[in-house]
Amino acid sequence: MLLMKEELIIKIKQIMAKYPKGESALLPALTLVQKAHGNNLTKELVNQVADVIGVTHSRAFGVATYYSMFNISKAVGKYHLQVDTNIPATLMGAKKIFDYISNKLGIKHGETTPDGLFTLSHVECLASCGTCPVVQVNDVYYELMTIEKVDMLIDSLRNGIMPVLPVEYNWATQCNVLLKNRGVKNATSIDVYKKNGGYKTLAKALKMKPEDIIAEVKSSQLRGRGGAGFPTGVKWGFISKDNQKPVYLICNADEGEPGTFKDRQILAYDPHLLIEGMAISAHALGSKLAFIYIRGEFSWIADILEKAIEEAKKDGQLKDLDIIVHLGAGAYVCGEETALIESLEGKRGLPRMKPPFPAVAGLYGCPTIVNNVETLASIPFIVENGAKEFTKWGSVGGYGFKLFGVSGAVNKPGVYECPMGIPLKDLIAMAGGIKGNMIGIIVGGLSVPMLTPEELKKGDGLKMDYESCAEYGTSLGSGGIMVISDEFSIPDIALRTIQFYNHESCGQCTPCRLGSGMIVSMLKKIVDGKGEKGDLEKVLWFCDNIKGKTLCPTGEAYATPIKTMITKFNSEFNKLITK
Ligand SMILES: Cc1cc2nc3c(=O)[nH]c(=O)nc-3n(C[C@H](O)[C@H](O)[C@H](O)COP(=O)(O)O)c2cc1C
Ligand code: SF4
Ligand code: FES
Repeated sequence: MLLMKEELIIKIKQIMAKYPKGESALLPALTLVQKAHGNNLTKELVNQVADVIGVTHSRAFGVATYYSMFNISKAVGKYHLQVDTNIPATLMGAKKIFDYISNKLGIKHGETTPDGLFTLSHVECLASCGTCPVVQVNDVYYELMTIEKVDMLIDSLRNGIMPVLPVEYNWATQCNVLLKNRGVKNATSIDVYKKNGGYKTLAKALKMKPEDIIAEVKSSQLRGRGGAGFPTGVKWGFISKDNQKPVYLICNADEGEPGTFKDRQILAYDPHLLIEGMAISAHALGSKLAFIYIRGEFSWIADILEKAIEEAKKDGQLKDLDIIVHLGAGAYVCGEETALIESLEGKRGLPRMKPPFPAVAGLYGCPTIVNNVETLASIPFIVENGAKEFTKWGSVGGYGFKLFGVSGAVNKPGVYECPMGIPLKDLIAMAGGIKGNMIGIIVGGLSVPMLTPEELKKGDGLKMDYESCAEYGTSLGSGGIMVISDEFSIPDIALRTIQFYNHESCGQCTPCRLGSGMIVSMLKKIVDGKGEKGDLEKVLWFCDNIKGKTLCPTGEAYATPIKTMITKFNSEFNKLITK
């Protein structure tokens, strides 16, 4: 039996000591042990981790098999090449890259070369949509991949070297708040951040009464930037004044919604902005312990955050606040706030029944506020300049500044900071204009309904805020915009979309678990040219019977977009049905 080394056991105990409950260390401990064992886990190792942490073997095994980053069902080779093939990646040439690697190495998805050197997998969106195609090798992202770069990468890996292949990102700002430090050299260091005015607002906030900060955030009308758009100040107000339990603040850095790659711009390039926002928010909420739950694939960004937190602590900025960076392990549903809390408690990331809402009973049964990275990074501006300055941008349809990620068929895919309500056409112009002939556009991440070019011509044109998106029959969501050109077919896009949700369904609700699987098989049949009359109606029936009948919004997040694709592009689907 393979035994864990003593030093790993000591490290696991150190991780446990950071959390109010040691069970929270389960995911980080499994990640650590997997890394120390050639990127693979075995049942024995999982049992040993369970014994150190003090949870049952079955619970630890359930966790290890739930998250896609744990390699337990199948061993992987020394280099695990993971090609992201989600929608934006597909739109930007991922299939060509996947097929090339597959032919070059002579292996298919899930297979390992006979020498044990390479395993090839396709994976879901890696939050790098502006720089797709992406190949993740073990912990490292290789972005904007070309055939030449793949050759270079594989040659180098054969020589035992993980090469450095830097990429340039497209970005621009019209507001100069969230991306203020994006182009500044060494902006991740506290000295540079402070030189540019950083942490002054925290000093101001610490002298303010918590209720005054909450009132300012309420009057700014800031709405959460994680996708649902719930008013932040209102959410903060749900923490009971009579509460005797600890209050926890969690920053949601899961960035899992396909088409979304905005939060990493703050996390990796201006971590102190987030830390300052969190420290101000924690003061307003009376929280002494905060967490950054960050997707597991961003482990190098987690290192940047940990270093920045250490710097802030040493500099005396955090006073009695502690911030723990907690890595997820590959599960889209863990972006949903209650699934995230379960995951942080060292469990499978299964969404909880609501109510109770997290503000009443969240992490460890205590009042908890979950906010997105961008939301928390917007707080210093509001506290420094006042709500009025924030509302000078945007309108009643949505106030303030916002990060938009633009990917797919545009000339300069990237992240753009703009006022809320910017006309979509202006945003597309910032992203270098459309490449080719657009047939559809998704404006708020994969879970919002697609729009057609004809629909965009209606009225004064779509504006990127909550109200205008609703008027056009879609949602602002996370602000992830994907432009689809006529190089692609909508039935193919619909199939790949539902394959993603089917893969990510946590399985708790029968309509979501079985419905997504049924839609995959029916759309596959249609795309393969084997569709029969009545198949499309069946898909639509499933969509109608999933929507509103699930525990978390995921069911609706695919039922509505799939239904929209079928109804708006009906002839494209019908063309494929020959029987
Ligand atoms: C399936 C699913 C995935 C989600 N993924 C994310 C995510 O990756 N990041 C995020 O901030 N919010 C995500 N959310 C929204 C969160 O549940 C929650 O509303 C958000 O973190 C609250 O922060 P905000 O109020 O600042 O937006 C997701 C929701 C669902 C249903
Ligand atoms: S809707 Fe899907 S993802 Fe959400 S809880 Fe139900 S089964 Fe899980
Ligand atoms: S689809 Fe490639 S990172 Fe999002």
